[in-house]
Amino acid sequence: MTNDFQESANSESIFTHLQSLPCDEQDFSKDKIYCFKTIDSTNLYAKKLLSENDINQLDKTLILAETQTAGRGRLNRNFYSPAKTGIYLSIIYSPEKQVVNPAEITAYSAVAVVRAIKNIFNVDVKIKWINDLYHNNKKIGGILTEGFINYKTNTIDAVIIGIGINISTQNMPEDISNKAGSILADKNENFSINKFGAEIYYQVLKILKENPEEIIDEYKKSLFTIGQKITVHPIIDDEKTSYEATAIDIDKNANLIVQLEDKSIKVLNSGEVSLHI
Ligand code: BTN
Repeated sequence: MTNDFQESANSESIFTHLQSLPCDEQDFSKDKIYCFKTIDSTNLYAKKLLSENDINQLDKTLILAETQTAGRGRLNRNFYSPAKTGIYLSIIYSPEKQVVNPAEITAYSAVAVVRAIKNIFNVDVKIKWINDLYHNNKKIGGILTEGFINYKTNTIDAVIIGIGINISTQNMPEDISNKAGSILADKNENFSINKFGAEIYYQVLKILKENPEEIIDEYKKSLFTIGQKITVHPIIDDEKTSYEATAIDIDKNANLIVQLEDKSIKVLNSGEVSLHI
């Protein structure tokens, strides 16, 4: 049985849903909500907007698509983005103060998405450091945060927070069929892409104003990586050899602290490693 949503992504409808949430009215404007039936990638569209417009004017822009033909995940992986069964969106964040660490934004956004899924579907989601969202031991979504770099000043002028979630997606491609799942799986429940999109957008903008220490505490509570034996795969620099470790904590910058077999401690940045649990 499928439970595809029937409504189309629509900025008017998203805006109406936002107005029923306890939002800061100044945060939202209909002009900053872009909806597409199909797009290559909402993150790519965000980059295009950022390269063609005044970056400050684009802060809090939402781009949402019903399907993506070239959805991307971390480490240049594809993100399977079929129509009618998932949600694919990007939020541009370009605050006045400079963004130093996009990894922190990823962690905060993960907590925001966990809250949004709980509110809309009453489903508990777990996080695999740093950006993967899990339900019933299957990956149901992820977050790809990309910095928009100003090469003249070497600063990150904006961050694109890309969020993809499988809501009722079944029939996954063979290469991910063992590990990918969806929020509703085979439950036959209706959902509204516009209501869910508005909730995610609202929760992300809200969390970006909250106290980082408290968000990291909440992040840790949803994390299933701590205490696990993991394989660490370095993805940059000369150190290319994988190694075994135990994840022991997260620091205030969303880095993962691990203990190696020789008892030494390492602090891992998500830009440097990928994990296998
Ligand atoms: C991951 O699992 O590694 C992250 C997946 C992020 C996918 C989302 S879907 C919306 C946005 N546009 C993209 O191309 N990617 C992100």
